[in-house]
Amino acid sequence: MAEVLNGLKRTVMCGNLRSEHIGSTQTVMGWVQRRRDLGGLVFMWLRDRSGIVQAVWDGTKNKELFDRIANVRSEYVLAVTGTVIARTPENVNKELATGEIEIEVTDVKVLSEAAVTPFEVNDEVSVNEALRFKYRYLDLRRSKMQNNFIMRSNIASSVRNYLCDNGFLEIETPMLIKSTPEGARDYLVPSRVQPGTFFALPQSPQLFKQLLMVSGFDRYFQIARCFRDEDLRADRQPEFTQIDMEMSFVEENDVIAMTEGLLKKVFKDTLNVDINLPIRRMKYCDAMENYGSDKPDLRFGMELKNISDMVENCSFSVFADAIKNGGSVRAIVAKDCADKFSRKDIDSLAEYIKTYRAKGLVWIIKTAEGYRSSVNKFFTSEEFDAIANRVGAENGDIIFVVADKNNVVFDSLGQLRQEIARRTNLIKENTYELVWVTEFPLFEYSEEENRYVAVHHPFTSPMDEDLDILETNPGAVRAKAYDIVLNGYELGGGSIRIHSSEIQNRMFKMLGFEQSDIDDRFGFLVEAFKYGAPPHGGLALGFDRLVMLLAGADNIKDVIAFPKMQNASCLLTGAPDAVEQKQMDELFIASTVEKE
Ligand code: AMO
Ligand code: AMP
Repeated sequence: MAEVLNGLKRTVMCGNLRSEHIGSTQTVMGWVQRRRDLGGLVFMWLRDRSGIVQAVWDGTKNKELFDRIANVRSEYVLAVTGTVIARTPENVNKELATGEIEIEVTDVKVLSEAAVTPFEVNDEVSVNEALRFKYRYLDLRRSKMQNNFIMRSNIASSVRNYLCDNGFLEIETPMLIKSTPEGARDYLVPSRVQPGTFFALPQSPQLFKQLLMVSGFDRYFQIARCFRDEDLRADRQPEFTQIDMEMSFVEENDVIAMTEGLLKKVFKDTLNVDINLPIRRMKYCDAMENYGSDKPDLRFGMELKNISDMVENCSFSVFADAIKNGGSVRAIVAKDCADKFSRKDIDSLAEYIKTYRAKGLVWIIKTAEGYRSSVNKFFTSEEFDAIANRVGAENGDIIFVVADKNNVVFDSLGQLRQEIARRTNLIKENTYELVWVTEFPLFEYSEEENRYVAVHHPFTSPMDEDLDILETNPGAVRAKAYDIVLNGYELGGGSIRIHSSEIQNRMFKMLGFEQSDIDDRFGFLVEAFKYGAPPHGGLALGFDRLVMLLAGADNIKDVIAFPKMQNASCLLTGAPDAVEQKQMDELFIASTVEKE
């Protein structure tokens, strides 16, 4: 039977009891982590958010108290009152922060009984993912999860303190907004009041924060929920949180400096880690050239090397053709891997990069006895020597080469670089390599849509130097955009915005929007800019990603209380779900899905 508190107050949290409490009477409340029966003695570990403490029942001293807990087992909720006593030296538990003491129980209330849980609540027990998320509230009881959310809350408060101290106002923007497709797919919400029309959930507060600058709020921030209907990955959820900010009368360096100060404080407050400012910067083109990625992981080297000029006229047609078709041939060196990687390992790497559209993978093993390679018959050992020299390969190393269109070469070699680093433990634990990636291209050509699309978003300002070529050479125009990258993850991104309606209109034209499109989709923003817009810019950090990286988690699901699964569903509640016909009728919508 569940008992009620009836005025009983908790005096201390379980994990906070220490030797200095010895002799005092305390009341703790929490869940039974485990129970052990030793003859006339019962030991229970009691757990709350702060940690674990041991309580002891001595049946020989108080039979009635002993009988009251006869049926108590794991995950029951108890209120325990007792005297804090020292453990004998041989019974001290160094693994517990409370391990020097225990509670000799003088009173107990069983506040709630618990059915046998579908899995044991314990960090050490590995639980099948479907079960974890179906019973997420039990999963969240584990200390690892509790610590992630304590950290998440602490980071949010550190962020708020920093931004408020720096003159930012926290302003909320709407969740029900106009759909302005560009970027990811929108989540839509049907309107009941305006039949046949839909709201979208925001992919980010972008347009509203720009409007707030037009309104003169000067500095805005929001810890904002965003929605994007896109494929899930380890660092992507359909519903996620941004630390979103915007500033007036600023240029790139001002936004960058403000963000650096924020990151410095968050790292110090949460991990007691000092990051050195300024954070290094890398141009987008250099990041691609050297790391094959616009979010390079700088915790290790293994840079890409271009060998196109050396193999342009070779007899291996894969290489020669790639260059003829405007692509390139590039290589990375896996140091000391000749003995580490078997043929099978190499084949599995070749298989791995096929996911990134590479058509194959050439390998060249350099040894004291000469070269072994998948393309032996096409190259002399002098030619291999020249390549090895260029890429810096020594005896015992493997050179991996990919030939293709540039974007395929960069992507596949960049991913191969990461994979080799993972397999050979090149990545240093507990290091934080931050880098700003700058001078992104403004546009990229979409083969699919047959037009230029904005790399960042259509409100990002071109670099002043490149304004002249906006229409004539759009592919070469650079943006006033910057991404902050941590350990190979895109932690955040932002830009200086266009604040002139003239340039904004040129931008829309380049993106292939008709005037009617512009008026219809973004007219309100273009109009707002007519009435005096300050130069402005900002940035958004992925809050979940930041917490994930600081908590050392490898999936953002571990730092989102109730996340979605791979198929964008919630296993706990069963959302999304069919709704009653009546609800559909009220909203003037019907499903085209055939009923089974
Ligand atoms: P962007 O689209 O780059 O910029 O998003 C900013 C940051 O948000 C995080 N992020 C995500 N995190 C988890 N799941 C997702 N699906 C997801 N998508 C993005 C990333 C990313 O760097 N309005 C602009 C910002 C600006 O220009 O000020 C924007 O949304 O960490
Ligand atoms: P093949 O002549 O198709 O047997 O290929 C010989 C070697 O070249 C194999 O090791 C393939 O994996 C590799 N290869 C094929 N296409 C490419 C490519 N585009 N880039 C790099 N290596 C390739």
